[in-house]
Amino acid sequence: MSVNDALARPVTHRVQKGLSPHPRIRNVIAIGSGKGGVGKSTTSVNLALALKALGARVGVLDADIYGPSVPAMLGLSGRPESPDNKSIEPMRAFGVEAMSIGFLVEQDSPMIWRGPMATSALTQLFNDTRWGDLDYLLIDLPPGTGDIQLTLAQKIPVAGAVIVTTPQEIATLDARKALKMFEKVEVPVLGIVENMAVHTCSNCGHAEHLFGEGGGQRIAEQYGVPLLGSLPLDIRIREQGDVGTPVVEAAPESAAAQAYLAAARRMVEELGKRPRAGIPIVSSLI
Ligand SMILES: Nc1ncnc2c1ncn2[C@@H]1O[C@H](COP(=O)(O)OP(=O)(O)O)[C@@H](O)[C@H]1O
Ligand SMILES: [Mg+2]
Ligand SMILES: [Zn+2]
Repeated sequence: MSVNDALARPVTHRVQKGLSPHPRIRNVIAIGSGKGGVGKSTTSVNLALALKALGARVGVLDADIYGPSVPAMLGLSGRPESPDNKSIEPMRAFGVEAMSIGFLVEQDSPMIWRGPMATSALTQLFNDTRWGDLDYLLIDLPPGTGDIQLTLAQKIPVAGAVIVTTPQEIATLDARKALKMFEKVEVPVLGIVENMAVHTCSNCGHAEHLFGEGGGQRIAEQYGVPLLGSLPLDIRIREQGDVGTPVVEAAPESAAAQAYLAAARRMVEELGKRPRAGIPIVSSLI
């Protein structure tokens, strides 16, 4: 099956033992990082828009309690509606569904989250959002390896994880810690996205490796996971994120957008190698 077929009609892939896939979401993919500020949210929204551009039905769940930024990056304002006071309507931007943990917090109140509050907020958003039929739901996790990641591993049926890292982070051990954590909780790491390794000059477009070449490739090889893509440090990626129209939407022909599209294809390809979810046996019919 080609990548495009897989995109148009992806199967539901296996999730953690003891959990069943969400009834309307085929594949949940967690986007993690060791540290904040590496571009995890930017990568999440652009990968989501890339998957949509490739023909998939996509949602993004912003679970970063430390800095929920997905709504702003998608140009969303206001709050989601809850017609029955139980379930929540996802918000929509550029044909993608979105929900954020930030909506559960009062705008001006300080973000003091105790573990249980944050983790119940995640499961609530996942279960109580009226997601449409989705091929992919990307979850933008908080950085690091805390309570939210543990809850995700135990309660959210995930098909795989993607680690976003910068060259600086590769030099430290943070990205490796995130990798190890997913391994430990048996969520397969589909691959690594290396961000801000190469600077693209906005005048002449020439590329400059700020930290030497090949860091992402090295860590990928060392841990036996694929390098899904390498994103340039590109001022348009930041500017378009700031104004709420991510680069994949604002400039689909740009090198940056093409790099996100390639990473999305590669991610789907890796997911396609994973076993599909088992078809439950209904014993009463036998
Ligand atoms: N490839 C990139 N090129 C330029 N700026 C980037 C790139 N990736 C992220 N940024 C910028 O870096 C900052 C941090 O990115 P963000 O996605 O919010 O990180 P995280 O979610 O990991 O904390 C943002 O201002 C974002 O616009
Ligand atoms: Mg973020
Ligand atoms: Zn130049």
